[in-house]
Amino acid sequence: MTNFKDAQQQLIDTPRRWLVTGAAGFIGSNLLEALLRLGQTVTGLDNFSNGHRHNLEQVRALVGEAAWRNFRFIEGDIRHLADCIDACTGVDFVLHEAALGSVTRSIEDPILTNASNITGFLNMLVAARDAKVSRFVYAASSSTYGDHPDLPKVEAVIGKPLSPYAVTKYVNELYADVFGRTYGMQSIGLRYFNIFGPRQDPNGAYAAVIPQWIAALINDQPLKINGDGETSRDFCFIDNVVQANILAALATTPEAINQVYNIALSDRTTLNQLYEMMRALLKDRFAHVGAHQPTYGPFRGGDVRHSQADISKARSLLGYAPTHRIDAGLAQAMDWYVAHLRPYRDISCTAPGMVGVDGSARTP
Ligand SMILES: NC(=O)c1ccc[n+]([C@@H]2O[C@H](COP(=O)([O-])OP(=O)(O)OC[C@H]3O[C@@H](n4cnc5c(N)ncnc54)[C@H](O)[C@@H]3O)[C@@H](O)[C@H]2O)c1
Repeated sequence: MTNFKDAQQQLIDTPRRWLVTGAAGFIGSNLLEALLRLGQTVTGLDNFSNGHRHNLEQVRALVGEAAWRNFRFIEGDIRHLADCIDACTGVDFVLHEAALGSVTRSIEDPILTNASNITGFLNMLVAARDAKVSRFVYAASSSTYGDHPDLPKVEAVIGKPLSPYAVTKYVNELYADVFGRTYGMQSIGLRYFNIFGPRQDPNGAYAAVIPQWIAALINDQPLKINGDGETSRDFCFIDNVVQANILAALATTPEAINQVYNIALSDRTTLNQLYEMMRALLKDRFAHVGAHQPTYGPFRGGDVRHSQADISKARSLLGYAPTHRIDAGLAQAMDWYVAHLRPYRDISCTAPGMVGVDGSARTP
């Protein structure tokens, strides 16, 4: 088992070729940035359904032109096998992030979610298998725990899915497992909990809670918490996710392969605590933030009350050691939020004048 520092050195010493699907999205663009900074050669695949060209431009500005020349971008769609085949050509590792990532959207349009998240996933598996990639690391989800009440969540104990999105993410795990048994393919699934950090989209009906709330605070707009604010989540900063992906790609221990892992902090933060943390970080920058108060609305149906991961499996088999707790992650990302969420342009998610947010607008 390697630790993250050694893994990074290994990649600097022997650069590899990576495919990041969903490269124009939140997590994908952060993976892209980290890999280019390590001198890796990266192909990115995205259809811009939720991702943005400006995410790629931000990465370019951050890594510089020399590193950017190691990046090849394909505007393509994982629902098309030919695009997946093209993207997998000559690649050592796949980090598969492309998917439609919202519970609510999947309830509104299960066919669309199924096409990207299951058909697209299967296309990627087939393309990666045929290209003989060394490792297929994919974004799984804490939504797979469904209605199981136990806390903290351990990988082997799941409940029934509570949404079409959750079904798709569980089917991904089943397919990856079967491709391991049937074709000897090596995969690792990372069950992300609530991930946050720079380039997470604050706009639109399916936006995640952290960038929405920060945008509301910065721009002095009303902010509604669904429920009493004591709902809790295991919020996880993006740097921990980057670490988990690199460790998963490089893992050599046989027991670590063809497994799924919780990727989180094993912390529980209530929505009230989250709100106060953000306020504390912003009140010295914006005078109006000190007086800002949230309003409270009814609980949203279908939301689980608490979520918390057991991360001991990732710690022991992958060497995962999260570097950022939630407050450190928020503090690190705050300059980005302030630079990019002000003015907050598109508050299209709710009734006029109200940013409708709750702790699990995007329960992953
Ligand atoms: N953010 C979280 O908290 C979280 C939690 C659990 C799981 N996940 C999973 O992590 C992955 C990345 O999530 P994210 O938060 O970065 O979301 P995101 O929406 O920012 O990124 C997903 C990217 O995939 C692209 N995409 C979607 N459908 C595609 C298709 N058919 N072909 C090509 N590209 C396509 C989008 O354009 C977007 O750029 C997803 O698989 C998501 O389900 C995220």
